[in-house]
Amino acid sequence: MDISIELHRRLEQAPVVPLVVPEDAETAIKTTRALVEGGLSVVEVVLRTVAAVECLAEVVKAVPEAIVGAGTVLSEGQAGDVAEAGAQFIVSPGLHEPVVRLAQSLDLPVFPGVATASEAQNAWNMGLRSLKFFPASLAGGPAMLKAIGSVFKDVKFMPTGGVSAANLADYLALSNVLACGGSWLTPKTAIAENNYQAITDLAAEAVAIAANTRS
Ligand code: 3PG
Repeated sequence: MDISIELHRRLEQAPVVPLVVPEDAETAIKTTRALVEGGLSVVEVVLRTVAAVECLAEVVKAVPEAIVGAGTVLSEGQAGDVAEAGAQFIVSPGLHEPVVRLAQSLDLPVFPGVATASEAQNAWNMGLRSLKFFPASLAGGPAMLKAIGSVFKDVKFMPTGGVSAANLADYLALSNVLACGGSWLTPKTAIAENNYQAITDLAAEAVAIAANTRS
């Protein structure tokens, strides 16, 4: 399976990438299953907890129907670790060339975060055509994406940071938005209450918004 082709295919169907904050493997697996159940099968497990890389490996093994990426990858070392753990794509909050180069050498799709035209231009010159746009709401939101789209015509963005069910359609209405990312689909309270149905429902709501916006 060409992971890049499959990733783009799934994002075309359901252009939303939920963040999974892996407190422990069991909840990360249950969260990922709940998201898949709701129609979102591309998830980003973020490196924000001590056990994150280990949890990522467990999620990859336990939920093969999901495409599991690693997010908040800050260094080349972390990129190597997540690749070894089975991450199928890599997301960073910013643009760091060694992370990009390592991912490219492993044929792993990589989405470094950009918030300005200079960063987007640098990423473009590294051969990238799909970028995270972060933090989306503070970096100018849909208006900024529209403006930047007029110069980076062959680039698609993944806005993340401040995206929610309330503004998802505003982003997905733009043709240069590949998908939106966010943590609104995996609320801490739902996980603490063992309420995975709530996560499935949020995923299904996002799928419905996307279908309405892009039909
Ligand atoms: C990210 O890592 O992309 C952001 O922290 C997600 O932002 P959100 O919590 O506003 O969705």
